Amino acid sequence: MKQLSNRRILLGVTGGIAAYKSAELIRRLKDHGADVSVVMTAAAMEFITPLTLQALSGNPVHTTLLDPEAEAGMGHIELARWADLILIAPASADFMARLANGRGDDLLTTLCLATAAPIALAPAMNQGMWRDPATQANAATLTARNIALFGPAAGEQACGDVGPGRMLEAEELAALAASIFNTRLLDGVHLTITAGPTREAIDPVRYISNHSSGKMGYALAAAAADAGAIVTLISGPTNLACPERVTRLDVISAQDMFDATMATLGSCQLFIGCAAVADYRPVNVAEQKIKKNNDTMHIDLVRNPDIVSTVAHRKPRPVTIGFAAETQDLIRYARGKLERKNLDLIIANDVSNTAIGFNASDNAVTAIWKDGECNIQQMGKHQLASELVRLIAQQFFPAKS
Ligand code: C5P
Repeated sequence: MKQLSNRRILLGVTGGIAAYKSAELIRRLKDHGADVSVVMTAAAMEFITPLTLQALSGNPVHTTLLDPEAEAGMGHIELARWADLILIAPASADFMARLANGRGDDLLTTLCLATAAPIALAPAMNQGMWRDPATQANAATLTARNIALFGPAAGEQACGDVGPGRMLEAEELAALAASIFNTRLLDGVHLTITAGPTREAIDPVRYISNHSSGKMGYALAAAAADAGAIVTLISGPTNLACPERVTRLDVISAQDMFDATMATLGSCQLFIGCAAVADYRPVNVAEQKIKKNNDTMHIDLVRNPDIVSTVAHRKPRPVTIGFAAETQDLIRYARGKLERKNLDLIIANDVSNTAIGFNASDNAVTAIWKDGECNIQQMGKHQLASELVRLIAQQFFPAKS
């Protein structure tokens, strides 16, 4: 089932250059099954036309509060009742100020006052405007009122500045919108998840490692935390920021990752092995940098402990989930691992396809368990993570889903 099936999302678009991304956001929300209706502020219409958003959403775009014709169709109170979620993307500094002050001076602010649905904002503005104490105070007021803030991200801005204030990408926003409906699916569940590569030292400056970016594990940690899980993320070296509400333990080698994992098992109810753990490590780590005196070099390697398999063979044990990255015969190899490692679920992905898997932003997987399997089509890793959290909750923590 698509994550946003039967969900009615009222997308508010306010005035900012990021309004062009709203068009893509509508497509993403619809891809995931949502029914999208758009409300634009007057300033938003300076950046993108209602016609574009109407064509993409397949629904009339609402723009004015005091329009007798519009009120005769779906008036502002009906619209406020219609929405399962009001998502405002982009949310300008001015819009945040008006919302924080409880203003009802246009259709969108009025809807926000009238609705009982959750409200989420994706702020987008110049970094100086975002950092301004007035905007920060408004953001704090809105958060205190249980209005979710999605982002903003930091990076290059349309005006040439660099800093916080970029609107999140459409795919991330769609995943976060889905997570609003996923909340509490893993309420209070203690999750330990490994992510990223490990590094196996050869000498003080060299190591053996792999191409894992950690993106999938971090996305899963974030989605599980959004679903109410208490998450410990045991991470090999990556360039990623720790997701909010997640406790991260940084490790380097497979043995470190093994030790850190075992130390969490007392309270752990769900373990997900998402790390690309090096299978072997050098038997001896040279104390000094090895000199290149010979044309060939020989390093003796020894097997690393299999973390996920060790966890899965313990008694008692948490629900244990592994990944299988394969380049051929995906399902057969993955089923073999499911059995051999004694897992409850294995998530198989084809890493021979460079559009998905290692280092890519997208992934497509088959989730396999003892007497079933399910394909999850290619999508962004954040969206996929939300799908997987839902599947895991349904299969293993049904009381909460
Ligand atoms: O056997 P293979 O490495 O393909 O299995 C992949 C799964 O096993 C992943 O879930 C990975 O995190 C886990 N694994 C592990 N410890 C290892 C090797 C793999 O936990 N030493």
